Amino acid sequence: MGIGVSNWRLARAVSMCGHMGVVSGTSIDCVMTRRLQLGDPEGHMRRALSNFPIAEMAQRILDRYFIPGGKKPEAPFKPVSMQTIDASAALTELTVISNFVEVFLAKEGHSGPVGVNFMEKIQLPTIPSLFGVMMAGIDYILMGAGIPRAIPGILDKLAVGEATDMKVDVEDVAAPVNYSTHFDPKAFCGKYWKPLNRPQFLAIISSSTLALTLAKKASGKVDGFIIEGACAGGHNAPPRGQLQLNERGEPVYGPRDQVDLDKIREIGLPFWLAGAYAEPERLKEAQAIGATGIQVGTAFAFCEESAITPELKKAVLEKSKNASAEVFTDPVASPTGFPFKVAQLEGSLSDEKVYAQRERLCDVGLLRHYYQKEDGTLGYRCPAEPIDDYVRKGGKVADTAGRKCICNGLLATVGLGQVRDDGTSCEAPIITAGDDISNVARFLKPGHETYTAKDVIDYIMSPVPATANA
Ligand SMILES: Cc1cc2nc3c(=O)[nH]c(=O)nc-3n(C[C@H](O)[C@H](O)[C@H](O)COP(=O)(O)O)c2cc1C
Repeated sequence: MGIGVSNWRLARAVSMCGHMGVVSGTSIDCVMTRRLQLGDPEGHMRRALSNFPIAEMAQRILDRYFIPGGKKPEAPFKPVSMQTIDASAALTELTVISNFVEVFLAKEGHSGPVGVNFMEKIQLPTIPSLFGVMMAGIDYILMGAGIPRAIPGILDKLAVGEATDMKVDVEDVAAPVNYSTHFDPKAFCGKYWKPLNRPQFLAIISSSTLALTLAKKASGKVDGFIIEGACAGGHNAPPRGQLQLNERGEPVYGPRDQVDLDKIREIGLPFWLAGAYAEPERLKEAQAIGATGIQVGTAFAFCEESAITPELKKAVLEKSKNASAEVFTDPVASPTGFPFKVAQLEGSLSDEKVYAQRERLCDVGLLRHYYQKEDGTLGYRCPAEPIDDYVRKGGKVADTAGRKCICNGLLATVGLGQVRDDGTSCEAPIITAGDDISNVARFLKPGHETYTAKDVIDYIMSPVPATANA
């Protein structure tokens, strides 16, 4: 999970080079509203909003969040309500529209394919998010971090305007209750409703068994798979079996974690390989075993078009140049419980001192777990929130150790960190990246301090030297 790193600008640049550009849909409501509060200096948010088919909804967003000239630096960003199972109409509108805006901009002015990435574990905003990206004509939906069995069927329904539900995974259930989110496209759009294109659905997976289950038992058609290895940036699938840590404290992956690519190929659906594949030889290797292509994250995360702040990109590129850039696969940082790759950078949340200084606070709440309260209603708790709150909600103290507020940290990484303490401090960033971080400086041309998305693509697509091919 990154927030806004792969923004519309980066996805558009990749699409315009003839490949699939993918925007991140995670927390895009916070991202868009914060960009509006920074004054939307280039007018992109407002232009996209003016293209949203239901003008009065877009106007409500502008009225609430747009600050001409931008907010004062010491003023905090206006909060966006945390997602709940009974989200207000205003939050649902914001979810649909912010997803629309990101994809509208990524697709603007060219006909290349655009995808969007969502996490299965973030379930409450899923249906309105899918609807928003579909309103903007998204071509591909990519979803991992969970078992996205319900999604294909939801896409089928949204395309034809049928109301749809999605079951929510709930912890501590004493009495069985069916907790679901619900969205009705025709009720949402009223007279503006029209049928939408059903995008292709690609499941991000790390096991051939899961691929087979999804191909056979999903609620509709799965159109392909992205097979992600444990060296990829973001969250990683946990290793099979009992968790073992190496001497650095990272999860140990073994032969059982190797994906059986023959089995994947037998399924007969297109697949892409991900995890340190941004090399011409690796692309050829992937194609030779039947992959349609590769998915690349880390190499793009530090290019000019990505939303990571220029200072952080510069610091990482410097480290890469002097062979000191590294990531730590943190088994506990992420409130999801999945291993999460964290770039090691002074002044960021990877720095123990910075982490220890942050007072726990949960006000974005994307990774909150859903649990059944005693009265049967749905509760929300995050292992990175204040420990007393978490325990009061039935959570275990042990589960809070080492947890990081990656929601706030990731927003800070893209220059949208919340201001705290009357404007005297700001949330510290946390950077996720894959093992490929050690070598991202390879994209820098001589005499250059930055590189572009096209530089990455040209590098990957360059001919493989005959010797390396032999
Ligand atoms: C900054 C960053 C953010 C990412 N965010 C997500 C995400 O939100 N969801 C997801 O499924 N994968 C995410 N990934 C993983 C990528 O989609 C991709 O599969 C992976 O980066 C490929 O491996 P590589 O990092 O070695 O290139 C992220 C990767 C990076 C580097």
